Amino acid sequence: MQILYPSETTTYDESQLAQVATVLEPYIEKLAVVAHDGDYTDPASSINLPTDATLREQVQKLVTKKASNALRYVFVVGIGGSSLGTKAVYEALSVSSIIGETPTLLFVESINAATLQYYQDHIIPSMKSADEYLVLSISKSGGTTETLLNTEILLAALAEKLGAVAARTVVVSDAESAYQEASTKAGMDSLEIPAQVGGRYSVLSAVGLLPLALAGIDIADLQAGALAMRERCLNTTVSENPAALSAACLATAYSDGYGIHDTFVFASELESLGKWYRQLLGESIGKQHTVDGEEVNRGITPTVSVGSTDLHSVGQLYLGGPRDKITSFVSVQRSVAEYTVPEERYFPQVVEMIADKTSKDVEEAILQGVQIAYQKRGLPFMQLQLEELSAHELGQFLQFKMLETMYLGQLLRVNPFDQPNVEMYKTETKRLLQV
Ligand code: PA5
Repeated sequence: MQILYPSETTTYDESQLAQVATVLEPYIEKLAVVAHDGDYTDPASSINLPTDATLREQVQKLVTKKASNALRYVFVVGIGGSSLGTKAVYEALSVSSIIGETPTLLFVESINAATLQYYQDHIIPSMKSADEYLVLSISKSGGTTETLLNTEILLAALAEKLGAVAARTVVVSDAESAYQEASTKAGMDSLEIPAQVGGRYSVLSAVGLLPLALAGIDIADLQAGALAMRERCLNTTVSENPAALSAACLATAYSDGYGIHDTFVFASELESLGKWYRQLLGESIGKQHTVDGEEVNRGITPTVSVGSTDLHSVGQLYLGGPRDKITSFVSVQRSVAEYTVPEERYFPQVVEMIADKTSKDVEEAILQGVQIAYQKRGLPFMQLQLEELSAHELGQFLQFKMLETMYLGQLLRVNPFDQPNVEMYKTETKRLLQV
C-alpha cells in the first residue's frame, strides 16, 4: 500500500506535520514495547494480533472441524466492531478473489424483521442438512441486545427445520463474558477475544479471522499485511511513519476547522471498508471529555463517499460548499480487469474522447480530475493507494488506520479505546425492555 504523504497532496507541509507528530515519539516507543512483549495486557494490544500464530491455528482448527463442501451459508451475527471489519474485507475481496465454491457470509446486524423473514422463508428452507450452515454469534461484551435477539431467532428457525443447532453454532466473545460461559454449557464451540482488544480494533482477532477463513480468504496473508504495516507505523522517526504523519494531518486539519473527514473510495467494493473506518474514527475520537477530564465534546465526523457515483451526488457540495472537510482518497492501482471501448461504436460522436480508452484510463482520469479540482479549491486531502485488492493490502490498510487512530487520540488528548456514550444507549435500551 502506498500512502501519498500530505505534503505532496494537501495544503499542509510535510515538515510541519512531522513537527506536530514529534509529540508522539514517547507513545510510539511505548507501543514498540507492547509489540515486543506480544501479549494482551495493554489497551493498544490489538497491534499484537498479526503475530498471534496460536490464534490463527485455533481458527484454522475450527474451520477444519466445521467446514465441508456442503457448507453454503455462514450467518455472521454481530454489530459494530463485531461485524464491520469482517464485512469490509469480505466485500472488498468477494468480487475479485473469492472462488464461487466458498460459502456465502450473511451479515445479521441490526434487528430487521424483513431480513429475518427472508432467511426464514428462502434461505433456511433451501437447506437439506445442518452441514449447510454455520451460525457465528459474535459479541465482545456478550450483552448486545441486537446480537442476542438475532441469534435466538435464527437458531430457533434453524432448529425447527434442521434439528439440533449446538454443533453448528460458534460463539466469539470476551473470555470472561457470561455469553462465553453459557455457550460452553450449551455444548457450542467458542473462541475468545482478548479482554484488552476493543470491538473496533478486533477485526484481526477471531472476530474477523474466523468468518473470513470460512469464506476462503487467506487470513495468514491478512495478518502478514498488517504486520508489515505495523513495522512501518512503529517507526519513531515520525517523518518516516505514515500513521503518525496522517494523524498529524487530521489533527492539524481539525484545529484549522476541518471537522469532517471524508473517506472517498474509488472502488465500490471498498464502501464497507470506509464504513469500518467510520466506526473506528467516530467512536475512538468522538468524546465528551479529554483524558484529563475536561469537558470538550471533541470529535471528527467521519463520512464515506464512493467514486465516481457520489461525484454526481455530493461533488458540488464538497467543492463549492462549506470548507469543513479533509478527504482521504482511497484507490486501487491494479484493476481486476480492464475493458477497452470497442472500435465499432454505436455512439461515436457522443463523448468522443473515450475512443480507444480502457475502463482503467477513464477511472484514473476521473480520480485525477477530482484531485486537481480539490487542489484548485485549496481543499486538503491525502491519497491512499492499494496496489491491488488482496488480503495483504487490506491487512495493511486496517493496521494503518488503527495505528493512525491511536496516534490521533494522543494528539487530541482523548481516550481512543473507550466508548462511554455508546454504553449509555445500551443501558437505556435494556432499562426500557425490562418494564
Ligand atoms: O467498538 C465497540 O466497542 C462497539 O461499537 C461494539 O463493537 C458494538 O457496540 C458491539 O458490541 P459487542 O461486540 O459487545 O456486541
